[in-house]
Amino acid sequence: MSKALTYLAKTRPEAATHLLGFYKHSVQALDEKTRHLIQIVTKVTVGTERGLRQYAPKALKAGASREEILDAVLMAFPAAGLNKVLDAIEIMREMDLLPEIPDNAPVTTVNNRLGSLNDFPLQRMHCLQHSTGNLIVFRSQADHVTVYSALCPHSKANLCQGTDHGTRVECRVHNWTFDLTTGQCLEPADGAGLKIIPSMVRDGELFLSDVTRA
Ligand code: FES
Repeated sequence: MSKALTYLAKTRPEAATHLLGFYKHSVQALDEKTRHLIQIVTKVTVGTERGLRQYAPKALKAGASREEILDAVLMAFPAAGLNKVLDAIEIMREMDLLPEIPDNAPVTTVNNRLGSLNDFPLQRMHCLQHSTGNLIVFRSQADHVTVYSALCPHSKANLCQGTDHGTRVECRVHNWTFDLTTGQCLEPADGAGLKIIPSMVRDGELFLSDVTRA
């Protein structure tokens, strides 16, 4: 049970009893694995990372294969759209819930141009969806830019959905806070820093340095 439901069960016990009773008794014909796979579809569709992290491991535990979990994510596509599906795939890959990329998968060369320097405001977080993953671009000086992976080093949440404090970003899941000028974790002080993605500036354009696979 989530912390929020536990809270409701204590502060509004009558309402929570009916709510929990609905969850418990409304679905009778579906087996546990199917229920959890459907939960994945709904969590991807509404874009709730917390729900996805809660139900996807349950599907695996109930006997779903990684291929079936990937199918469930993709089934959300018509209602969720591409961005939510890609976000979910990123989270699930970090949780090791999806099939491995086969050794004979085709290598794809991707466009490694991120944009013109002027596209990135000074001293502000700028998020990009790239085929290699979500990125944070931070332009600290006119011609100095750092590119970070947007995955929180704590538990892989998307920092682009965190709180933008200008030169700092705060993860919305457990509130780790990072200095975007250095990538260091400020809170907690001993937390891991952001992963820097190698990049370069050429003729006023920003590129990733080493992109070989989508
Ligand atoms: S996932 Fe970001 S602080 Fe925990």
